Amino acid sequence: MDKLAIIGGRALYGAIPISGAKNSALKVMAASLLTDEPLTLTNAPRLADVDMLLRLLARHGADAAFDDATLRLHARDIASTEAPYDLVRKMRASFNVLGPLLAREGRAKVSLPGGCAIGARPVDLHLKALTAMGAAIELDEGYVVASAPRGLHGAHIAFPFVSVGATEHAMLAATLARGGTVLENAAREPEIADLADCLNAMGARIAGAGGATIEIEGVERLHGATHRVLPDRIETGAYAMAVGAAGGELTLSGTDARLLGAALPVLEEAGLEIELLDDGLRVKKSPGPCRALDIVTQPFPGFPTDLQAQFMAMMATAEGVSKIKETIFENRFMHAPELARMGAKISVDGQTATVRGVPRLKGAPVMATDLRASMSLVIAGLAAEGQTMINRVYHLDRGFERLEEKLTRCGALIERIKE
Ligand code: EPZ
Repeated sequence: MDKLAIIGGRALYGAIPISGAKNSALKVMAASLLTDEPLTLTNAPRLADVDMLLRLLARHGADAAFDDATLRLHARDIASTEAPYDLVRKMRASFNVLGPLLAREGRAKVSLPGGCAIGARPVDLHLKALTAMGAAIELDEGYVVASAPRGLHGAHIAFPFVSVGATEHAMLAATLARGGTVLENAAREPEIADLADCLNAMGARIAGAGGATIEIEGVERLHGATHRVLPDRIETGAYAMAVGAAGGELTLSGTDARLLGAALPVLEEAGLEIELLDDGLRVKKSPGPCRALDIVTQPFPGFPTDLQAQFMAMMATAEGVSKIKETIFENRFMHAPELARMGAKISVDGQTATVRGVPRLKGAPVMATDLRASMSLVIAGLAAEGQTMINRVYHLDRGFERLEEKLTRCGALIERIKE
């Protein structure tokens, strides 16, 4: 398994191009199953998770061609409506093929994704939404077996709490349903509006995406389209936080600061100077430690759970005490003991972590536990004195495109050790 060696203590200077958003790309890729015409995605990130979903889509009959950042998908015929355990287990977003397969073919058998390191992550809301649209759903030996022989119909679905995946899943399925669907208490993450834009370009009739109520008027068929994947707000925020921890000045291009929601004022309050540019933002850290701040993770536009780990790494050397409350996932502090190995002073009590800033972190061997936790270790490694060796970097490859290359160009000493 590959490792990453980082020699820390060097400020970052330069420009980083931000890739297309993983969490948008995975959903618009699933949308390709809704039409027999080609769907072309530009600004598509080349990531392990994207490759994993391509393998699954190929099984369902989609041809794929990746050329630079352009991904062309064509599911002329659906070859199989079954998504096996092996491919869904490794990546939860694979579960989102269920709705499109059901909407197009009237049936699908998709493995339940199971839990994962950051929490149990059930899919009950996904299944309730599809049931409300007329699907008959049975669970059989770890598989969801769904059928709607006469097609799905529109429904009024009020989510009891906000779920990104269930909102997207319901939206995907409702595009080809008979009649209108209303989603209430829908997730408002920018990736939802991006998926709606892609589906509308394919001929869907979706209004209100990005707000709490989404209305979808079903259509007979969808057609091919070209869609540009929106920039990755988590990658944007993570590199901004790397500047907060290691110092320096970075221009983050091909992105939009407004995608950061509540994380933007938090970065500024912590002591980063942020200048909004037409094509991104410039982030600068004046000498001296960051200010400690309290945050609570919330659905968008609140502080994103996917930046919580990186924020903790930045707070590890801040001046003062920071309280970080995680409200989305029940087990998302696995980076805390790893950061502690580097000298961070963190105590975790239930869903709240208290970080007492120390003047400096020290490099150490650490273990990446999930995608965003891994990035928090990279940020800590960039700021720390001496060498940090990060084990299990495959987690990083799932969601951060060309990480070493992007950081090396900005002066970081970071090297992949192949094993
Ligand atoms: C998406 O996961 C993202 N993944 C996550 O990013 C992100 O952390 C999360 O949204 C929140 O922003 C992708 O887009 C591929 P949810 P998702 O449904 O859709 C519970 C990353 O690092 N829930 O909004 O799975 C669930 O357990 C990943 O890139 C149910 O109880 O998140 C969680 O506690 C990690 N039943 C909460 O809701 C359901 O049916 C929110 O989950 C669905 C969800």
